[in-house]
Amino acid sequence: MKLLIDDAHIDLIKEIYEYYPVDGVTTNPSILAKCGEEPFKVLKEIRQLIGDEAQLHVQAVADTAEGMVEDARRITRELGADTYVKIPAIKEGFKAMKILAEEGIRVTATAVYTPMQGFLAGKCGAAYVAPYINRIDNMGYNGIGVAKQIHDILKNNHMETEVIAASFKNTQQVLELCVYGVGAATVAPDVIQGFVKNREIMAAVDDFVKDFEELTGKGKTMSAL
Ligand code: E4P
Repeated sequence: MKLLIDDAHIDLIKEIYEYYPVDGVTTNPSILAKCGEEPFKVLKEIRQLIGDEAQLHVQAVADTAEGMVEDARRITRELGADTYVKIPAIKEGFKAMKILAEEGIRVTATAVYTPMQGFLAGKCGAAYVAPYINRIDNMGYNGIGVAKQIHDILKNNHMETEVIAASFKNTQQVLELCVYGVGAATVAPDVIQGFVKNREIMAAVDDFVKDFEELTGKGKTMSAL
């Protein structure tokens, strides 16, 4: 399962990139709004930081198929042909997805709340389908269940499209989809930082250091012997 950062703040992305094994960055218009800067300026900074090989997902904002296609062309022109363009999995979006697939522009179907949206996006040639785990849970449905069902639909229908699950609020949600083997998960920095936040783990590491220092002296490490 690929792991992406769902944020656009360059400092947070830099820190997560330095410490954790991540495969790219996803954004949406609300995430960009939180940065309060010109969108392409922020996105180009991100692209420069993560490099051309890493995945960058950027959302089209227009509300017609034609407008979405224009947005997608501009996004890939500015940020590289390999940039994934997020297109809402709605009627206009499906039309846009088919055109973009023909043009070879990679699409991530977004705003996905139901398995049928995932199926249609797969048939339109989307590279990824992004079910919103936590938002689905908040509606009283089962977000993890929807993501698993979309994964199964795509596999059972021999489509190359993968799930990129989104909208996570805790480690357990991510872990469950990791065990299931979905294609990718995009996770906010605070949730990633919480993946291995555990007093027992830290206590075990601290005990090792204490024991070693008792043997060799305060502040001593293997390289300092
Ligand atoms: C992903 O495609 C969505 O833009 C995003 O992950 C939604 O997350 P949220 O529900 O935390 O806003």
